[in-house]
Amino acid sequence: MIRLENLTVSFGGVTALDALDVELTAPVVGLIGPNGAGKTTLLNVMSGFVTPRGGDVFLAGQRLTHLRPADRARLGLRRTFQQEQVVEELTVWENVQAIADHLADPRRGRAEIARAIGRVGLSGKERMPGAHLNLLERRLVELAKTLVGGPKAILLDEPGAGLDEIESRRLYTLLKDIPGELGAQMVVIDHDAEMISSFCEQTVVLDFGRLLACGPTKAVLNDEAVRRAYLGSASS
Ligand SMILES: Nc1ncnc2c1ncn2[C@@H]1O[C@H](COP(=O)(O)OP(=O)(O)OP(=O)(O)O)[C@@H](O)[C@H]1O
Ligand SMILES: [Mg+2]
Repeated sequence: MIRLENLTVSFGGVTALDALDVELTAPVVGLIGPNGAGKTTLLNVMSGFVTPRGGDVFLAGQRLTHLRPADRARLGLRRTFQQEQVVEELTVWENVQAIADHLADPRRGRAEIARAIGRVGLSGKERMPGAHLNLLERRLVELAKTLVGGPKAILLDEPGAGLDEIESRRLYTLLKDIPGELGAQMVVIDHDAEMISSFCEQTVVLDFGRLLACGPTKAVLNDEAVRRAYLGSASS
């Protein structure tokens, strides 16, 4: 479980997160909101890439706020980026290994890398260089990187961005069982409300860095303020 306590982030005059107080309790949590609402900033604060002006981040009761990104990763926090980060010159295997190298036991690392690559359906492509992968395969490599080393929380920043409907469905079908299999919580940013609706038990809505709504996904998506701010209209 992830708890965010009174988080505030400012970039110059922009308040990207404004005293955000929320508890992510479901195994799969959706994070939605209009462009610029603060979704990526929130993932950046959780993973340690942005330091908040105030407030705290807790994972399973442990305060992470003072820890560097690598230390948070060792505690089980994993993330992907809105712009995928596959290294073109490295193979699929090496891209995943770069994360697994943080593991203490290298033999355990190799088995985990193979399992993670298999789990995302990329077995047989281990030696393929990043440069030869299509967008879906790149997103799958990113996903495989989050699966090694005993993740406790997996944060995905628009994993379906740029994919067509069939690819996106394939990705989400893969994602669906991961929290149960690994006992890891998953937080997913996506602009596709239908996907969020079918995938996430709990949904958090941000608007101008503030918490607009948080609760069971269906109730949140039917909330009038959410429909007005995010889905465009309360009446249509
Ligand atoms: N490094 C930065 N420097 C300055 N301003 C930033 C920085 N990162 C984010 N912002 C600003 O903070 C606000 C929140 O941005 P953020 O990227 O978190 O939004 P988002 O909800 O992820 O949007 P999108 O749906 O477009 O990805 C925006 O006004 C953005 O311009
Ligand atoms: Mg974003």
